[in-house]
Amino acid sequence: MKKIIAILAAVATVAATLAFAGCTNNEVIDNNEVVEGEVKEGENAEGDAIEGETEKALTVAEGKLTMATNAYFRPYEFYEGDKIVGIDAEIAEAIAAKLGLELVIEDMEFNSIITAVQSGAVDMGVAGMTVTEERLKSVNFSSSYANGVQSIIVKEGSAIATVDDLCAEGASYKVGVQLATTGDTYSTEDFGEENVVRYSNGNEAVLGLAGGDVDCVIIDNEPAKALVAENEGLVILETAYADEDYAICVAKENTELLEKINAAIDELTQDGTIDAIIATYIK
Ligand code: ARG
Repeated sequence: MKKIIAILAAVATVAATLAFAGCTNNEVIDNNEVVEGEVKEGENAEGDAIEGETEKALTVAEGKLTMATNAYFRPYEFYEGDKIVGIDAEIAEAIAAKLGLELVIEDMEFNSIITAVQSGAVDMGVAGMTVTEERLKSVNFSSSYANGVQSIIVKEGSAIATVDDLCAEGASYKVGVQLATTGDTYSTEDFGEENVVRYSNGNEAVLGLAGGDVDCVIIDNEPAKALVAENEGLVILETAYADEDYAICVAKENTELLEKINAAIDELTQDGTIDAIIATYIK
């Protein structure tokens, strides 16, 4: 049987510490040796008010917390009319409230989220995003707020009855995934580039399955359940493909925002808010 990958919790603190090593661009104020954290916001080393440009703003748009997502991922993010709702939207809203900021949600291709975070177009990515070693090279992750499992969707009566059938030596099935997700990465590793068909989102992957372009779809379990409920003739295999942790990604250099998000997640976990949000969407 081929490799089944389990992803471990993020080592957010280590990542945050490492991020400092690459930190550049600290403007030198007055006495030539200002170090991040020693000077209060809006003051120089002597405590005099200075121009705002020496302090990096916490978020890209003042007073707002801008989140990138891919809103085709029920129940984490999806459209209700023209509004994006779901577990991630509500958790992000609660974090924004704790930080005294207004939440702004930007919907984009899943594949664009990390770049948007890295380039400073948005403050954070909240998209049922799995913490992976590879992604930790580009962004930092908050503490995890939920768990996910990669599941396998097949047509009723499929020859693929278990994950072992799919992974069996000599088996050659076409696997549908959402582009750049962990389902994509794992499948490519396990089944080879030539057997993986990448779609813009889970709905399209499921249409590919219904139309016979692929033999199964590998996607996170809760979106899988929603897709199976919305489409006739599909089932989820009982054996899962991989376990994962979801977290919020933030630009490497924005450790201040990461710390604030982590503190908010901590409080929202302690007081039961996150569990309550998850429970409204996952019964
Ligand atoms: N958990 C998977 C990953 O991180 C899939 C996430 C897809 N999210 C979305 N909003 N479409 O790769």
